[in-house]
Amino acid sequence: SRTIDLAVIGGDGIGPEVVAEGLKVLEAVGASEGLTFARTEYDLGAKRWHATGETLPDSVVEELRGQDAILLGAIGDPTVPSGVLERGVLLPLRFALDHYVNLRPAKLFPGVASPLDVSAVAPNGIDFVVVREGTEGPYVGNGGTVREGTPHEIATEVSVNTRFGVERVVRDAFARAQARPRKHLTLVHKHNVLVNAGHLWRRTVEEVGAEFPDVETAYQHVDAATIFMATDPGRFDVIVTDNLFGDIITDIAAAIAGGIGLAASGNINPTGAAPSMFEPVHGSAPDIAGQAKADPTATVLSVAMLLEHLGYADAAARVDAAVAADLAERGTAARSTTEVGDAIAARL
Ligand code: IPM
Ligand code: MN
Repeated sequence: SRTIDLAVIGGDGIGPEVVAEGLKVLEAVGASEGLTFARTEYDLGAKRWHATGETLPDSVVEELRGQDAILLGAIGDPTVPSGVLERGVLLPLRFALDHYVNLRPAKLFPGVASPLDVSAVAPNGIDFVVVREGTEGPYVGNGGTVREGTPHEIATEVSVNTRFGVERVVRDAFARAQARPRKHLTLVHKHNVLVNAGHLWRRTVEEVGAEFPDVETAYQHVDAATIFMATDPGRFDVIVTDNLFGDIITDIAAAIAGGIGLAASGNINPTGAAPSMFEPVHGSAPDIAGQAKADPTATVLSVAMLLEHLGYADAAARVDAAVAADLAERGTAARSTTEVGDAIAARL
């Protein structure tokens, strides 16, 4: 029996609703695996910002460092100016805890509808994972505006790509590819235009690839990659890409694999030097908040990733299987957020 120190950040909109179901499933699987969870809730997001003007106090970051893992719902609210919470809470968490692997699986479960004609474009199914770099790229906020408000305004967002940052995420992606049956890694970038960063990524894949001779590598420009997501998604096994391309293609990946309601993610610090953070890819969906309409499945699958990351592969597999069974029988009848969580928890 082990106690896991778990930080819980419900956040904004539907975040707290879906997190409640994720926790329900976690408790259900934990009960039979000898795992207990010592939870600490952190109030971050729009409410805190309106009340105090704070986004992410340093003291919270320091407390989070002592946790084993973090479960996050969603951050973002239309009552807060665009970017304030994203650049004040979510991104600083990823940066401070060095979540350099943003892991986003795209797996079409049996019985789940895809907007694609899957039997035609992916007869062997859709099952790939995007390793999105999480700490660099244009997300670091390296840029600025000069001559603001004039006809000569210049705005720049500089994409930061360090050899250190690229190499560590590429190595992680190779290791993940090596552990999968197909052992295939696709680098997605745009080196025909972004020559500097593009060539750093390409060279790094080539050099690190020498350590993984059994992994086959491929390259796609990001624009072409979006075409293949729609026309031939079965070609992908592991994709490694930068922060911004990864943001964009993982929304497409979610769409083809059953929708954003099913897309899970892990913000992972593979070194273990800081806790990893698991969150659904979807946002706070303020339009449906408080109506018990949100699908908590993405959060439940994120909980499975959390368990896997902490070394509880059996518990993770059981959660995945419970979700798969629920999805296979789900049909089209509308269920509330808690009904979905109850149904999945009841299978554990
Ligand atoms: C995501 C989101 C975030 C991102 C936003 C909210 C900052 O879109 O997790 O994909 O761009 O990373
Ligand atoms: Mn996104």
